Amino acid sequence: MRLTTTIPSLVPWRTAPSTDALRSLYDAAAADWDNYLARLGQLHDYQRLFKRRAVRNCLSHLDPTSQILDCGVGTGAFSLGLLDSIAHPVQVSGVDISTPMLTHARQNLKHRCSTLDLRWGDIRRLPFADDAFDAVIFAHVLEHLADPVAALRELVRVLKPGAPLIGSVTRKGLGQMLMSLRWHHRGYASHQLEACLQAAGLEAVRSFDYGTGWSKWMCIAAIGVKPRRAIAQTHLDTPQHLGGLLYWMRLPNHPHRSIRLTNFHLNAHFR
Ligand SMILES: C[S@@+](CC[C@H](N)C(=O)[O-])C[C@H]1O[C@@H](n2cnc3c(N)ncnc32)[C@H](O)[C@@H]1O
Repeated sequence: MRLTTTIPSLVPWRTAPSTDALRSLYDAAAADWDNYLARLGQLHDYQRLFKRRAVRNCLSHLDPTSQILDCGVGTGAFSLGLLDSIAHPVQVSGVDISTPMLTHARQNLKHRCSTLDLRWGDIRRLPFADDAFDAVIFAHVLEHLADPVAALRELVRVLKPGAPLIGSVTRKGLGQMLMSLRWHHRGYASHQLEACLQAAGLEAVRSFDYGTGWSKWMCIAAIGVKPRRAIAQTHLDTPQHLGGLLYWMRLPNHPHRSIRLTNFHLNAHFR
């Protein structure tokens, strides 16, 4: 399938803030960031997001050896929401351009995960190998980037095939426009967010509201799954291919879309 890279409804953002400007903004906000999130009810709302059935299903494959990556980790609040929703710790990595934010993230996360790897860096150039993570998450960082699809492609690059990307952004609207005077971000409509995830190569993309109060009006979340390339490209024309596919189908927790894809291939084989 050919993926289009142009999203007509999300025009290029020529006046996006520079990385230096954002870094200064968030360096200055870091000390009060957790209080700020608490005042907005965002900490509880992140928990609610990760406790939604659709999100839990996407994360049911995580075990104590799993690695997750939080892009634009800030003080670690979004990771904490994920960690609160699963029964065991996982290995957490995080990337952010603000050193003070990372210092707070270290404090907040160090006793909550099996290993913690926080790095200063830009999520548009992640310092990780392809196909490295069992889940990638992000909250309220995409709004700052001039080319969201290019950034999302980088997140998808480090995601394992079949693994989910889960993110939250600010909803486009009057509230977001007023907030942008301080935070220099732009908002998304649901269809724009979904289009960005699809253009970045994800499948089974869906967006949804979450939380109560502030988040319910101001935020949108979305999930997408990285396609299992090997399966998608397989032609079932030999017994070996079919044997491999049947073995793969017995593995637990594969996303619905991939199961449908499997059925499609099987039907094609038996026609
Ligand atoms: C609105 S805060 C959100 C922090 C955290 N995800 C949360 O939900 O509390 C945005 C974060 O993204 C970081 N950030 C902005 N642009 C970035 C980039 N290009 N690469 C990495 N981090 C970035 C900022 O330093 C800041 O910590």
